[in-house]
Amino acid sequence: MKVSVKVPATTANLGPGFDCMGMALPIYNTVTIEETVLPGTGIEINVISEDDKADELSLEHIPMDENSIIYKAVELLYNSIGQTPSELKITIHTQIPVARGLGSSASVIVGGLLAANELLGHPADEAALLSIATEVEGHPDNVTPAIVGGLVITSSEEDGSIAYRKLEWPKEWSITVCIPEYELATDISRSVLPKEVPMQDAVFNVKRMGMFVHAIHTKDSALMKLALKDKLHQPYRMKLVPGLEKIAANLKHEENVLGCVLSGAGPAILVISEKNNLDKIKSIVRDTWNDLNIKAEIITLPVEENGAEIIKID
Ligand code: HSE
Repeated sequence: MKVSVKVPATTANLGPGFDCMGMALPIYNTVTIEETVLPGTGIEINVISEDDKADELSLEHIPMDENSIIYKAVELLYNSIGQTPSELKITIHTQIPVARGLGSSASVIVGGLLAANELLGHPADEAALLSIATEVEGHPDNVTPAIVGGLVITSSEEDGSIAYRKLEWPKEWSITVCIPEYELATDISRSVLPKEVPMQDAVFNVKRMGMFVHAIHTKDSALMKLALKDKLHQPYRMKLVPGLEKIAANLKHEENVLGCVLSGAGPAILVISEKNNLDKIKSIVRDTWNDLNIKAEIITLPVEENGAEIIKID
């Protein structure tokens, strides 16, 4: 049996929602898992890039042996029913840029889990898949929208369960995804974060999260402009993301821009705006990075409302 799963890219945090807000985007990886017939062939993992710009270096971020995140996810699922995976051929077709803060690791974890779950006859329900995916990824803000689609607020609870709700993104607001050519591994981007933060910074983000949710529900642009700020992760990561500070400053007084935030752990940046002025916004971002000799892909994308789905079973 051979199962293919298509999984969307995701952007996490969206400013104040560190480790708890995420959104699916219409760029996809496809994970195929095949039970091989020859015993003793073990696990084979192949990564095939469909992203012209991906080089071998970037694909190194996807380990291809039994230490890989996809293998760990599949193994946890097999273990949950008292089995061990063996003789599997895993192929990952990637379109999601690697190590840019667009959920490429979450996508392979989720793709692997859904494909393995199909091969095993659905032992895991959505809640179990969310828990296993979060255990492997370490936080739920990419894996949740990768599984369920849309914009989500998601929380990893003390018992390992994942509580999430979908929120509706106002159609009036555009999401412009700015992806620089350079990479930033999530573990490096997390390593610069402090273990503790000042109380006033925590309070700053608590306020912004409340504002964010209310602004989404009421389509309140003025409130969203206040909400799209953060003191828990972006200030610490600024030094790892050349151009971010300058881009934010250059967009600050631009008409219709509601905010400029890091996508996940970076280095991609999201610009949230009301629906015009997009060309101007894109050229400001492009020019700012150009001045630093950084090439970038800049695209305005809708929210992907669907999560991962099985697209082929042979
Ligand atoms: N919330 C995570 C972080 C997302 O900011 O490190 C990583 O993609």
